[in-house]
Amino acid sequence: MTDTLNSTDATASVLDRPAEEIVADLTLEEKASLTSGADFWTTKPIERVGLPAIMLTDGPHGVRKQREGSDHLGIGDSVPATCFPPAVALGSSFDPGLLERVGIALGEESLAEGVGVLLGPGINIKRSPLCGRNFEYLSEDPLVSGVLGSALVRGLQSQGVGASLKHFAANNQESDRMRVSADIDPRPLREIYLRGFQRVVEDAQPWTVMCSYNRLNGVYTSEDPWLLSSVLRDEWGFEGLVVSDWGAVNERVTGLAAGLDLEMPSSEGRTDAELVAAVQSRALDERLLDTAARRNVELVQKAVQGARADASYDIDAHHALAREVAGASIVLLKNDDAVLPLTPGPTGVGTAVAVIGELARTPRYQGAGSSLINPTRLDNALDEIRAIASDDVPFAAGYGSEGETSDELTAEAVAAASNAETVLLFLGVPAAQESEGFDRDDIELPAAQLALAEAVVAANPRTVVVLSNGGVVRLSGLAEQVPAIVEGWLLGQAGGGAIADVLYGVVNPSARLAETIPVRLADSPAFLDFPGEASHVRYGEGLFVGYRWYDARELEVSYPFGHGLSYTTFAYTDASVTADASGLTVTVAVTNTGDRDGAEVVQVYTSLPGSTVVRAPRELKGFAKVALAAGASREVEVHVRREDLAYWDIRVDRWLVEGGSYTVEVGASSRDIRSTVSIDVDGDPAGVPLTMLSSIGEVLAHPVAGPIVMQAFSSGDGGVTGSLMADPSMFKMMASFPIGRLASFPGMPVDREQVEQLLAMANAQG
Ligand code: BGC
Repeated sequence: MTDTLNSTDATASVLDRPAEEIVADLTLEEKASLTSGADFWTTKPIERVGLPAIMLTDGPHGVRKQREGSDHLGIGDSVPATCFPPAVALGSSFDPGLLERVGIALGEESLAEGVGVLLGPGINIKRSPLCGRNFEYLSEDPLVSGVLGSALVRGLQSQGVGASLKHFAANNQESDRMRVSADIDPRPLREIYLRGFQRVVEDAQPWTVMCSYNRLNGVYTSEDPWLLSSVLRDEWGFEGLVVSDWGAVNERVTGLAAGLDLEMPSSEGRTDAELVAAVQSRALDERLLDTAARRNVELVQKAVQGARADASYDIDAHHALAREVAGASIVLLKNDDAVLPLTPGPTGVGTAVAVIGELARTPRYQGAGSSLINPTRLDNALDEIRAIASDDVPFAAGYGSEGETSDELTAEAVAAASNAETVLLFLGVPAAQESEGFDRDDIELPAAQLALAEAVVAANPRTVVVLSNGGVVRLSGLAEQVPAIVEGWLLGQAGGGAIADVLYGVVNPSARLAETIPVRLADSPAFLDFPGEASHVRYGEGLFVGYRWYDARELEVSYPFGHGLSYTTFAYTDASVTADASGLTVTVAVTNTGDRDGAEVVQVYTSLPGSTVVRAPRELKGFAKVALAAGASREVEVHVRREDLAYWDIRVDRWLVEGGSYTVEVGASSRDIRSTVSIDVDGDPAGVPLTMLSSIGEVLAHPVAGPIVMQAFSSGDGGVTGSLMADPSMFKMMASFPIGRLASFPGMPVDREQVEQLLAMANAQG
């Protein structure tokens, strides 16, 4: 492996000169070589001009710096690093402040390992619960992904370490990921799949963006000038470098011309030579290569500036942070009759608790593939429960580490359950079913575990289910049998302690579902269009992703987006909303009405009744996590940015805020709305010119032409239009008629020429 920042003396000279000047000193071959890696994880140094190599490595929830035998599939060993909770958990925290702290800690560890860029966060939308990599993504909602993704990037980069926002874009499945074309209409593409990326780029300027493997509407994202240059740079103002996903380059020359600045890993000089040949034959403008080379130099300069040879980090403090974050990410789905929290100490009869399930002893705490971290230490829930319980805590595995079961294991579990007041039953998705590189076949818990659950519940109905899973699992059936369910996701190396904290009320749960748990897979939005065929996947559900779909279809769900219980309760009063040029300000008083301190996630959804475009019944537009002591009350303010109210208008290819009276819902989940208010919002000028093909309805809605046409049509001479206007159903029918066609009809109060003049005047004025 090439020497990187901490091992070379990163020469000051690279910082002394602007990147352009350094590039101007390079030969054509040097410039080409700079735009691809030296090996798996490092860029190429050019000693002649004092340019060191830097290391880019995974990511995203820990530092995966490989020692030897480099690979990007999680096979080779890596140096120990704190395994923070993966994105599936972080997303549920709904807490940007916490993610920023995780980013800072990741930055510290990166610096200590001499890593210049950490490959994350991954913010792809969870389109289907089957995506094998959902554990590595934050949410089904672009606002949650964008806000939390920005926080992570900010934290990381505050330490002088670059982020790599990935996978850009529309990498929403693992099946055929290196070739599949995600075929997406413009509105869902902009409003769902690109929106989170846009927010992170605009708010946090990641040093790098990683293009995805897949194609988007037929074009490899690694060579899509629209995506990598027009949208990312010209529209969003991205200033950093675009790196390929590992092995995502299809045609290097096409990619570079499109805006791909760095190919990773090394192609051992083959594609560098292609670039040189393309410049020499004038197939590639050398200035494009200069630009890519400059961005590489700039990235190295940032990393050199951020590097600290003496960097180190506090392993214990990071483990403690990992525990805190995991505790804030556990979602209490159900808690009938306040079964939880448990009280430590013996109960007198039998044991207070029995722990059942191998996952309590052998935790599943992260997913497989490129994000696999070698943890600095590893807690398990069983030991941590025993540490808090102050009582004997019997354990029965129930199933083996490979998921195998037997009559003997079941009998042991039933015996332990029968003798306990409360059973803590650990269930989850086996590691072999969830990984980068392939999707899941279903969302079922293993049949053997469900059978075990049935036997355990029959022996002791007071059973709390604790889940370990990266993607959602079907809970219908099981949820009706047990009084409490703790969604423990994959919680990183300190997850075991965090689970014990939540079970015993050391931590009051405050996380929320960043994705819906459907009643069954067949209800999910992409069910009929996933994972596609013949290397195409059509996003047929359009805008209706996640809760947008379940709400529009009025489908029952097991647990809705935004849901999560607490050991206390919160009341909402006096919601109000105001509007100004920056957007909406929603204010609501929230009171902790219980007897425990806790935190509430106040969620703000909007909709526009009577909108002229297709919309979901509600869309999350803002949220705030607020800590409140028992009995305390606080006025919470949530700001909704005006640009977040916009939809993508396909007539003019830009964002537009439609004017009208917006419904603003304030709630504790997407299906627990506590207060509804409305507010008038001024629309953006649509800028859609009127033509002879504009409908009467569109013309009537136009501020200049509308009143004139209305006047002409209604002028009561008893003519054709007069009677048409008087009949509401005829009026409705007329509304869709192109004005040019109508003008040709006999008996019309205006002729075509007059209409043309009117339209020209209207277009000129408004
Ligand atoms: C993954 C990326 C990762 C890269 C490097 C790829 O297979 O898709 O997320 O950063 O490998 O390991």
